[in-house]
Amino acid sequence: MRSRVVYYSRTGATRLLAEALAARTVAESAEITCARYGTGLWGWFQAGRSSWRRDRPAITYDRADDTPDCLLVGSPVWSGVIAAPVRSYLSEISDFPERVGLFLTSEGPPPHPEAEAEIKTLLGRAPDALLAMRAEDVRAGRHMDEIDDFLRDLAMHAAIGS
Ligand SMILES: Cc1cc2nc3c(=O)[nH]c(=O)nc-3n(C[C@H](O)[C@H](O)[C@H](O)COP(=O)(O)O)c2cc1C
Repeated sequence: MRSRVVYYSRTGATRLLAEALAARTVAESAEITCARYGTGLWGWFQAGRSSWRRDRPAITYDRADDTPDCLLVGSPVWSGVIAAPVRSYLSEISDFPERVGLFLTSEGPPPHPEAEAEIKTLLGRAPDALLAMRAEDVRAGRHMDEIDDFLRDLAMHAAIGS
């Protein structure tokens, strides 16, 4: 099974989780970049404004030609919803693979109902697995058990679906 991890990270927490997932699943990974949101105060302000407006900014990432068997998409939570660059990414995918997992990082504790509802809308269905972690836990390396649970959920879905 070929997996791909695609993620956006402004300050590094989601990147850490993405890297751990890619290593665990031997997946290729692609980072979404977006010029609009720098790491300073202006970038933070722009990020908040984009969440409020539900913006879909221009993004770049390594667009692979083929569809993987399993797609894992990572996003920070911005004002309760997914980060604008991930909204752009999910909006431009017309053909999702059968198995899709979403992973979120945030400063506050999950759940993030608005983010989950938006993911469902953009995917056209609920993801097969959802992992929501606090950034401080990811930065401290406290994510291995959660990653295992997340991947187990994905695998279970595959067993039921096949
Ligand atoms: C504009 C903005 C809004 C945010 N809103 C929330 C929020 O509503 N709830 C929360 O728990 N964290 C919020 N955060 C914190 C981020 O979700 C958290 O720092 C995340 O792990 C950052 O991921 P990154 O390091 O990959 O960019 C917000 C951060 C930004 C920049």
